[in-house]
Amino acid sequence: MKILLTGAGGQIGHDLIGALVADGHEVVSTDLAPRPPSHAHAGGDWQRLDVTDAAGVQHLFTEVRPDLVFHLAAILSARGEQDPRLAYDVNQTGTWNVLEACRRAKVGRVIFTSSIAVFGPPPSGPLPDPTPDDVALHPTTMYGVTKVSGELLCAYYRSRYGIDCRGVRFPGLISAAMPGGGSSDYALFMYVDAVRKGSYEAFARADTRIPLMYMPDGVRALLELAFAKREKLTRTMYNIASFSPRADEIAASVRRVIPDAKFTYAPDPVRQGILDSWPKALDDAAARADWNWKPRFDLDAMTDDLIPRVRRMLDLGAILSH
Ligand code: SER
Repeated sequence: MKILLTGAGGQIGHDLIGALVADGHEVVSTDLAPRPPSHAHAGGDWQRLDVTDAAGVQHLFTEVRPDLVFHLAAILSARGEQDPRLAYDVNQTGTWNVLEACRRAKVGRVIFTSSIAVFGPPPSGPLPDPTPDDVALHPTTMYGVTKVSGELLCAYYRSRYGIDCRGVRFPGLISAAMPGGGSSDYALFMYVDAVRKGSYEAFARADTRIPLMYMPDGVRALLELAFAKREKLTRTMYNIASFSPRADEIAASVRRVIPDAKFTYAPDPVRQGILDSWPKALDDAAARADWNWKPRFDLDAMTDDLIPRVRRMLDLGAILSH
């Protein structure tokens, strides 16, 4: 199958491209930036694409005519609060441009990556714990606002134009690839800085609890949803869940492997505010029922698999920077 990715230079693309190439698909990865050295192993073609450039998106989609698009390009939550205009342009206009290009290039299926950031505290009280798919959405960030809108645009293009657009609401994703500007990044940096410095000062409180997921489960979720039979799907967007540790529980899991690692907590008001607005855990019953979604990694299994990968990532980075 011919598959096009937007925002392929990010954290998800790092692992998704390789999985698609390994499955024998013809992959065209696109991003604003050239292929980063960290993504060199993945294979497939790489094209420059700015999703805010409607004509450029249209041109490339018509030229490539993909069967399936993974739309990953986005400015994440913390970065988006530094520059809401940029987040609006990339996430909102970019999603519109991608869906319009899909309509005109007759792309059959689009996978949209939504997020826990679509949720926020409702005026009536706290979010239910765990939070189900269908609650009123009150995002507090521009990132979340544009993800809600992206979900609605997917549903619109599906009903109006028959484009089979489907997606997941990802928890914070953790992997051996550097994230860019997310509020959930403290969780990955607990691993990265424990390995490279032996200590980490988290920008979140010790009792911060949000839904998290290890990237191999995240990539598998995208693939399982992308190739699920349409008649099995009762929804356009699905919550998917894995585990929801407190920050100090992540610290304890890391210390099982790196006993001397030291963790301190100095909450950053903006990012802590964002984290506190998100669900503590997600209810993913619909994904489990419709397409048999089930995570494989719990916190300690992730820690055991991830720490050697973080070591290799940092060694490779040191080699590349010399
Ligand atoms: N990981 C993302 C963020 O922190 C949430 O989707 O912005």
